[in-house]
Amino acid sequence: MPRHLLQLEGLEAPELTALLDRAEAFIPAARGEVSATPVLAGRLVANLFFEDSTRTRLSFEAAAARLGARAIALQGSGSSTSKGETFLDTALNVEALGVDAIVVRTNLSGGPNQLARHVQCAVINAGDGRHEHPTQGLLDCLTIRKALGAIEGANVAIVGDIANSRVARSALHALTTLGANVRLIGPPTLLPRGFATVAKYHERVAISHDLESNLHDLDAIVMLRVQVERAAGGAIASDYRLQYGLTRERASRLPSHCIVMHPGPVNRGVEVDDDVADDRRRSQILLQVTHGVAVRMAVLEQTISG
Ligand code: CP
Repeated sequence: MPRHLLQLEGLEAPELTALLDRAEAFIPAARGEVSATPVLAGRLVANLFFEDSTRTRLSFEAAAARLGARAIALQGSGSSTSKGETFLDTALNVEALGVDAIVVRTNLSGGPNQLARHVQCAVINAGDGRHEHPTQGLLDCLTIRKALGAIEGANVAIVGDIANSRVARSALHALTTLGANVRLIGPPTLLPRGFATVAKYHERVAISHDLESNLHDLDAIVMLRVQVERAAGGAIASDYRLQYGLTRERASRLPSHCIVMHPGPVNRGVEVDDDVADDRRRSQILLQVTHGVAVRMAVLEQTISG
């Protein structure tokens, strides 16, 4: 039976660690420095992206190619969903093309879980609504592990639009399972009350509305994109940068070893100042993209060939 990757919630530490170990071994191949064994030669991966993407879609294509598989793609615009074909019917028809895996991005939270109940091929969640973005969570963990040497005991802040962020949910599950201390920091409007309950019952999770007081002892800071497309009113508060942006001045008060991360795309001058995003000493933003290819190689290998 193929395995799926639908979410990180519920995965145990050994499962996460095995995926991270495999992904780390794939980094030279992801960079193109060596050739990976084409363990997926002859396999077909369908990328179904009903929401826009640059990094995730292309890195799944790159990962498939590095392992010898072919990737075919369907985007929401230009597909027969415009004629009323449902999400599930679309996936069933794609499976009927003979694909080995469906990689799906959708605004439907739980959409990949629904697909997995109906198709025989592997289903990989490439981001579903506000639910999860599991491969992003894995690449964030890999980046932290590579930079700091270990995840256990690391103080990691996830800052910004927690409410709308599937990235935050996946990272929170994986990081706490692997022993990190996670602080969720954001304005009350973007940090829902439900997270206070999580923090109340989870010793590794804390919430805060104050970025300033949290800077001094962080090992990693993950700045989230403000998701204008999901925000009520569709606007970024004008004082967002003032209160929650990682400005040059705030970055100067981070410990010297603290790394800066962002899933992309970056709203420059809102979540992160240019100087900070481009500081190759601290910023892991482009390295995260490379690690994304390695993680997706590990996930495709595991879900397709077991
Ligand atoms: N991090 C991420 O999901 O980026 P894309 O939307 O470009 O895929």
